[in-house]
Amino acid sequence: MLNPDVLREHRVICGSDDAGGLTAYKMLRTQVMQRMAAKGLNAIAITSPAPGDGKTLTAINLAINLAREVHQTVLLVDMDLRNPSIHRYFGLKVSKGIGDLLLHGAPMGEVLINPGIERLVVLPGSGPVSNSSELLSSPAVGAMVHELKARYPSRIVVFDLPPLLAGDDALAFAPYVDTFLIVLREGKTTRDEIQHSFEMLKDADILGTVLNASEDRVATYY
Ligand SMILES: Nc1ncnc2c1ncn2[C@@H]1O[C@H](COP(=O)(O)OP(=O)(O)OP(=O)(O)O)[C@@H](O)[C@H]1O
Ligand SMILES: [Mg+2]
Repeated sequence: MLNPDVLREHRVICGSDDAGGLTAYKMLRTQVMQRMAAKGLNAIAITSPAPGDGKTLTAINLAINLAREVHQTVLLVDMDLRNPSIHRYFGLKVSKGIGDLLLHGAPMGEVLINPGIERLVVLPGSGPVSNSSELLSSPAVGAMVHELKARYPSRIVVFDLPPLLAGDDALAFAPYVDTFLIVLREGKTTRDEIQHSFEMLKDADILGTVLNASEDRVATYY
């Protein structure tokens, strides 16, 4: 189902052909797993200050590497309702997405996709959803998050979020988030953006920070 050329072009690291990136994402995976286990959490949301920092790529590669652990399954959810992109990274054609689930009552089973990676399930977006921040703070989203987390307790749920500072979508979803992973992009993210982002999330739990596109490829910070 997945085309290796599409994955490679989009920097989705599925095989063992990208040794540096794979090692970095494995380290990220292990740190995330350990910290989530210590806090007793099974859901994590990936965000960043600005558009294009690498949230989606980090969410995808983290989810793939979490799914490499044989004893756990992973659900990757495209919560960027305004600009969903996970399906494009995988080269997937999506007929029904998360918008159909939230707005039109489509059954979960019709929306979930198994992209062909063992133990990984994707809840994709399809097109942009209007009034996304109102929808994100609505009871429909609360019910969906509850269902996703409760249905399979041993599963890890990874939410790919919109940027924190480019709208109120990420903040609207924050009450449903157990813990955040913040992506910063080397050479792009400014000190001001970091400060504003942490101020916005001052009441939220932050699992850690990922420095994306650094010389070391990917790194976690405490
Ligand atoms: N470490 C990296 N090395 C090279 N290119 C990268 C890296 N991380 C991200 N990119 C590229 O940067 C672009 C933005 O990445 P991505 O879609 O993950 O960002 P995003 O934060 O999710 O953006 P948006 O805010 O639009 O959702 C993509 O073209 C992606 O391939
Ligand atoms: Mg994104």
